[in-house]
Amino acid sequence: MDKSNCSVVSEFVLLGLSSSQELQLFFFVFFSVLYVVTALGNLLIIITVTSDNSLHSPMYFLLGNLSFVDICQASFATPKMIADFLSEHKTISFSTCIAQINFVHLFTGGEMVLLVSMAYDRCVAICKPLRYVVIMSQRTCTALVMTSWAVGLVHTLSQLSFTVNLPFCGSNVVDSLFCDLPQVTKLACLDSYIIEILIAVNSGILSLSTFSLLVSSYIIILVTVWFNSSVAMAKAFSTLVAHITVVILFFGPCIFIYVWPFTTYPIDKVLAIFYTIFTPILNPIIYTLRNRDMKATMRKIVTHYMRPKKISEMPLVVRNSFY
Ligand SMILES: *[C@@H]1O[C@H](CO)[C@@H](O)[C@H](O)[C@H]1NC(C)=O
Repeated sequence: MDKSNCSVVSEFVLLGLSSSQELQLFFFVFFSVLYVVTALGNLLIIITVTSDNSLHSPMYFLLGNLSFVDICQASFATPKMIADFLSEHKTISFSTCIAQINFVHLFTGGEMVLLVSMAYDRCVAICKPLRYVVIMSQRTCTALVMTSWAVGLVHTLSQLSFTVNLPFCGSNVVDSLFCDLPQVTKLACLDSYIIEILIAVNSGILSLSTFSLLVSSYIIILVTVWFNSSVAMAKAFSTLVAHITVVILFFGPCIFIYVWPFTTYPIDKVLAIFYTIFTPILNPIIYTLRNRDMKATMRKIVTHYMRPKKISEMPLVVRNSFY
């Protein structure tokens, strides 16, 4: 394309999921409900872990922070996407589009590192139970959270550095629900081959390395439990199956989209829903609803707010070492 007659693209058009009116209405209702449940579920987790003294442990500290990232992840693009289901012209301004690209990489990168931190925490708890309190000190926990945000930030800024100057002049139609790199770089009017390689390497290294760290820690946990007690095995196994499901639903789409960035498949936009919408709702389900302490405390908090006069002190009997 000739650069000299570049008319600057000031907005993009998002194609969305479907052009059928009925389906759009269905998606609107479906994703609205999903979003509200995600936001409230994660908010309840944050309130629970910060307000209850019995839950002041590294595991819940990290869980609270995961919920915070989940709320961010669910909120940077989804409300606009939901509103778009009802509108004819799904336009998005150039700057909002660039902002969405940065947010998706900031939160996804942060979430990946946080998931590794949580797996590391469980690894220490199970493999080095006597030194757990020393290793997972308050300082370590804060450092882990800071690291996850730092990695997300460095990751997103490094992508920004080679996409911020892309010239756009031709088509401005993004075949997706929100702006992300593979679809948007496709629209740039220059040969984006090198940039696509850089994107694939950058996102690929981050997702593949965190993915292998997660899988390794699950294997270490499983092996340790296997050799130490047969009773805990069933619990550990069901926990790990739940975690591995999330990991596959989260990392699978990320790796699929970014390892083949040169060809964008129609399925990509459906896969993008997995890491922006389904993961933030799965985390509270998996980390919380399977955990007795967490459920008891939540019940206490909800009861407290519903019937302020009758706070029944629920004893927290069992300390779980698994979520
Ligand atoms: C998340 O991490 C920050 C900083 O490390 C900490 O101050 C905060 O209490 C954590 N949030 C929750 C909900 O645990």
